[in-house]
Amino acid sequence: MRTHYCGQVTETAVGTDVTVCGWVHRRRDHGGVIFVDLRDREGLLQVVFDPDRAEIFAQAERLRSEFVIQVTGRVRPRPEGTMNANLPTGKVEVLAHALVVHNRAEPPPFQLDDPDVGEDTRLKYRYIDLRRPQMQENLRFRHRVIQHIHRYMDEQGFVEVETPILTRATPEGARDYLVPSRTQPGHFFALPQSPQLFKQLLMVGGLDRYYQIARCFRDEDLRADRQPEFTQLDVETSFLTQDEVMDIMEELFRRLFQEVMHVELPSPLPRMGYAEAMARFGSDKPDLRNPLVLVDIKDLVADSEFKVFAHPAQDPASRVTVLRVPSGATISRSTIDGYTQFVARYGARGLAWIKVNDVAAGRDGLQSPIVKNLSDAALAGILERTHAANGDLLFFGADRATVVSAALGALRLKLAADLDLNRKEWQALWVVDWPMFEFDDKEKRWVALHHPFTMPRVNSADELAGDPANVLSSGYDLVLNGIEVGGGSVRIHHQDIQQAVFRLLGIGLEEAQEKFGFLLEALRAGAPPHAGMALGLDRLIMLMVGAESIREVIAFPKTQTAQDPMTGAPGTVDARQLRELSIRSTAVSKAAANVSG
Ligand code: AMO
Ligand code: AMP
Repeated sequence: MRTHYCGQVTETAVGTDVTVCGWVHRRRDHGGVIFVDLRDREGLLQVVFDPDRAEIFAQAERLRSEFVIQVTGRVRPRPEGTMNANLPTGKVEVLAHALVVHNRAEPPPFQLDDPDVGEDTRLKYRYIDLRRPQMQENLRFRHRVIQHIHRYMDEQGFVEVETPILTRATPEGARDYLVPSRTQPGHFFALPQSPQLFKQLLMVGGLDRYYQIARCFRDEDLRADRQPEFTQLDVETSFLTQDEVMDIMEELFRRLFQEVMHVELPSPLPRMGYAEAMARFGSDKPDLRNPLVLVDIKDLVADSEFKVFAHPAQDPASRVTVLRVPSGATISRSTIDGYTQFVARYGARGLAWIKVNDVAAGRDGLQSPIVKNLSDAALAGILERTHAANGDLLFFGADRATVVSAALGALRLKLAADLDLNRKEWQALWVVDWPMFEFDDKEKRWVALHHPFTMPRVNSADELAGDPANVLSSGYDLVLNGIEVGGGSVRIHHQDIQQAVFRLLGIGLEEAQEKFGFLLEALRAGAPPHAGMALGLDRLIMLMVGAESIREVIAFPKTQTAQDPMTGAPGTVDARQLRELSIRSTAVSKAAANVSG
């Protein structure tokens, strides 16, 4: 139907006839001449309708926003003074001599260039929202990233294999989406939280190098970087060491930045132990663009009179930590009160602070509710260790280590956002040497920090019996600008270690057999050493395009309440369908009434 995309008609076409198709972006009537900005996926083109051609001029007068038209006309230079330097097509226009209206359109629910449209409206009319140039660019960027991934993985000898969507639960720590079985009444499939177990079985099956652009499903509380269904680049390899797998993934990551973003990342990427990340940044996914660091001062205040600091300073499970804010002394008391409330959300019982007015003046140069409680030696030690300078503000956290890390780690991020401290650069790193287990205080049981198939760094199953808190795993996470974009590990390939890990996690023999019997059997069938990783593609692409939410890089995402306002999913189903699935419709309609009521 066309000779050119609108966005590609430039000076080289002047004097020729073109046919273009697209949507009416804007129509302007100017002293008897009608201008239409015609839009397609490549951009905008100015079309002119002249009253000399009465018939199509009359048609053009009836054009409205988002009508779908086809125009044939002669390309000519725009008159001096009417050129638009911001558009690739800004030096030309098309004088129309034929017009076909392919379709009319109702007035759109929002203007495409209105920046303030609510997200619910955008998602309800996503097919209109997708016409916006930014969405077009995001999806095409995503396409380019995925094409690069396919090329790279193929080059490295990886085989793309699809794994089932209707399957059994795979524990990645979220709730499952369940699908009732019609043929097995009372039984359910679970949608995969990841292809984890299948990719391990592919290694037992001898595939050696597997990858998949895999859809994963997790019923968890949603945030800007979480969706109930999302996409991973999922990878598994056999007979490679941890370093070798990390190198393959790191090279892919670096090449994506080179080829798609024209950004050079350092080679190799920095690696940081989990313990150091928690100590200095209070986070297992530190944002290294942020210059603020946490500094521990337990030794300086252990014999202080100030019980708020001295008690935790004497407790091995606690931290006493300072966060120095350069030039922070101008922060007002009410803002500090706001930060105190902010850290309370993470369990902190207070937020002591010192304003450093004059380092040389010792105690007299410090303004604070707590200096009176601290000795000269402690104060001098704190100033020295934090490299405090005149005009700085010091915040203190003293509590159980988990509370201090969470509270000051979050405060560190908030201060960087409020004071615009983050350096404008890309900061990627690996976080390694993770603890294998963590004690869940609420549930009173051990949980795996990665997943239960991660290899603990022990020589035998017996070594797990000691103190689980001290066992490290061979897990690794890839972090970009403070966001976890990937994670993986060397896997357990001996069934006795797998059993021992299950036992520690409170999964008894019978339950392990029922849920993971097929894996345990496979591990007895000649399982090779294997290791792998998954990259969260939505998150990675969100960061690359500079979007605030992964919803901006997914064509049809769900809202914060895991709904699709366009299709109305999830929806109700009729009683007959439920009966076929052996689900009692009374229970379902009661639940639905509760939701809508
Ligand atoms: P993990 O659970 O760490 O590992 O997931 C890998 C990566 O997927 C991304 N991600 C998400 N993205 C959007 N929405 C979500 N709800 C969501 N959840 C996770 C993150 C994360 O780093 N099977 C293991 C991988 C392995 O061990 O090989 C796994 O799924 O970027
Ligand atoms: P108080 O002696 O309780 O009045 O506290 C003195 C200062 O210490 C106040 O600024 C409190 O916010 C702060 N504070 C109290 N508990 C803690 C804590 N666990 N960590 C850090 N600061 C605290």
